[in-house]
Amino acid sequence: MADYLLDNAWHEQRQRLAGLEAWFDPGTIRHLERLGVGDGWRCLEVGGGGGSIAAWLAARVGPRGHVLATDLDTRFLEALDLPHLEVRRHDLLVDDLPSGTFNLVHARFVLEHLADRAPALRRMVDALAPGGWLLAEETDSVSWLPAPGVDPEHARRFTRFTDAFTRLCAASGADAFAGRRAYGELGALGLDAIDAEGRVFMVRGGTPNAEVWRLTAAQVADRLVAAGYLDAAEMPAILALFRDPTFVWMEALVMAAWGRRPADEGAGSR
Ligand SMILES: C[S@@+](CC[C@H](N)C(=O)[O-])C[C@H]1O[C@@H](n2cnc3c(N)ncnc32)[C@H](O)[C@@H]1O
Repeated sequence: MADYLLDNAWHEQRQRLAGLEAWFDPGTIRHLERLGVGDGWRCLEVGGGGGSIAAWLAARVGPRGHVLATDLDTRFLEALDLPHLEVRRHDLLVDDLPSGTFNLVHARFVLEHLADRAPALRRMVDALAPGGWLLAEETDSVSWLPAPGVDPEHARRFTRFTDAFTRLCAASGADAFAGRRAYGELGALGLDAIDAEGRVFMVRGGTPNAEVWRLTAAQVADRLVAAGYLDAAEMPAILALFRDPTFVWMEALVMAAWGRRPADEGAGSR
């Protein structure tokens, strides 16, 4: 079983994922539309979480299509109960996927959590039908910085948190700088038409997007303290920062990388 930091069993996880979806779905949907996802497609949504993209895909592909949504913990996906949406409990680190099947395989904020991402990505590529698209969206903390001009004490506090969170990711096998990786990896896996594009937001404390981070920080607070990366006494002020409208930061970059399985690839060549 994977050592996943942001377990879906956490009592405020549905709310955290809803905020994440409201924030990032518009960009994800732009990529999915541009790749041509449409009527009759067979799609795989890996690590589907709260399920908003799985639900969007199911509506988009219609009754002639099919969506398989997987997750380590399928509690939110199962609640969707949509026609032509199949939900499967699946650990991308160990469990196989149907091979050569899907016109689209998508994962957002999933691969970055995996200690052993190479076999996971290979499984996702193997699941593609010839001509099918892989779209992987991952965080890269290169841009995760306080905005110029904010209170220096707030900036210091924020940086204490971002450093601690990055260390916790590394200690659990996750990579807070994964965004830059998929572009090269997709080429090594034999995909073509590879490209990548990042998006970055400015975030103000007290907004719905900031609340996603307040909830994330709250979920990992005990682990940050237990690991010795932060003092318990610092946590209340850090959590308050995410609700402070005078504090602004530049968010981590979200890199979308995509590539296509060659249509004329010989069977069994991978
Ligand atoms: C940060 S959430 C993102 C959820 C969703 N993809 C989104 O962007 O809204 C990561 C999801 O990946 C799932 N996950 C983590 N490790 C996994 C693994 N090894 N196999 C399958 N799913 C995994 C988690 O349970 C969680 O639902």
